[in-house]
Amino acid sequence: VIYLDNAATSWPKPPEVARAMGHFLDEVGANPGRSAHRLSIAAGRIVDDAREVLAQLLNAPDPLRIVFGANGTEAINLALRGLLRTGDHVVTSGIEHNAVMRPLRALERVGVSITVVPCDPEGRLAVADVEAALLPTTKLIAITHASNVMGTLTPVSEIGALARRHDLLLLVDAAATAGCHPIDVTHDAIDLLAFTGHKALHGPMGTGGLVIGDRVSIGQLAPLKFGGTGSHSDSEEQPTFLPDAYESGTPNAVGLAGLDAGVRWVMQQGLGALRARLVATTQRLSDGLRMIPGVTVYGPPRAEERCSALSFNINGLAPSEVGLQLDDAHGILARVGLHCAPGAHRTLGTFPDGTVRFAPGPFLSAEDIERALAAVAAVAREARS
Ligand SMILES: Cc1ncc(COP(=O)(O)O)c(C=O)c1O
Repeated sequence: VIYLDNAATSWPKPPEVARAMGHFLDEVGANPGRSAHRLSIAAGRIVDDAREVLAQLLNAPDPLRIVFGANGTEAINLALRGLLRTGDHVVTSGIEHNAVMRPLRALERVGVSITVVPCDPEGRLAVADVEAALLPTTKLIAITHASNVMGTLTPVSEIGALARRHDLLLLVDAAATAGCHPIDVTHDAIDLLAFTGHKALHGPMGTGGLVIGDRVSIGQLAPLKFGGTGSHSDSEEQPTFLPDAYESGTPNAVGLAGLDAGVRWVMQQGLGALRARLVATTQRLSDGLRMIPGVTVYGPPRAEERCSALSFNINGLAPSEVGLQLDDAHGILARVGLHCAPGAHRTLGTFPDGTVRFAPGPFLSAEDIERALAAVAAVAREARS
């Protein structure tokens, strides 16, 4: 098969990831930060290592300001539900994933107000429109770094500067970009950055986290969960230091061992080299798809403006039918439908049926790309006949 669903989760993983997880299960195995024995210390060291390597990759102010959790969704929930109170106003974009929109809609019911800034039909967000949406009660700008539907990148750095000028906080959903596009939390003035481990960071499912910038205090950000941390066990109150304030319960240490290996692999390849390879792959896919009669490709035509998620449709066929034919007849694995981002599809005009999404990863060969294009051409030809 040719796997083109890396925006849902990356696969295959670099072999180092399974090796690190196997090593953890076979040789380490203990609960990190809980017991003082050598294996618990070794487990703790692996978790700390993952924090350190991520802090380097994302240019976070301090590894201890990275809080691990189950996935990107949990990190976004911690940021939004931890920060926002009745009467606060949030500005967000029209292309957000439901990981952002659903917590925001739930917060609306307790008196948080939301402005959704529309994007252009290719998913571009204008900084001036974000600025025009600000109110005296605005506390936070919450935006995705890239659309998981049509791949369009948002101007995070300019929005970071805007947030600083207006003394607001900025939350960036980097689920689609962490590990395949440069992110600089410090330089781009990002106060909260949610990442997921199982996509371009090449870790396993069940990993993710939130980078908490140094303008966000623990007093400001309420924990999502409370419980044992292995620290300050004499107290029945939640610790008020990082990362323990937000990391209650036994962590997914085996997953974090895999994430550590995935991030190290990304750094070894070089983010610049990975990004350049993905830009070239995405450009070839996008250009090739645009040349097939009856195919509509969405989002910016220049791959530099996007991450690798690429949406298209074939005239006269529902995306679900295209996905089925690509899988059954050609072994091409894509994702179809709304990709948990209905706003992005309203922006494109593809709601409610959605699109077919190709999301290449770094292990895709030139031959795989040509085979995928030939398969789409065959499906489109059959639809025309
Ligand atoms: C843009 C975006 N945000 C958030 C998420 C949620 O991440 P996770 O699946 O790790 O919860 C996803 C995953 O599909 C995504 O694409």
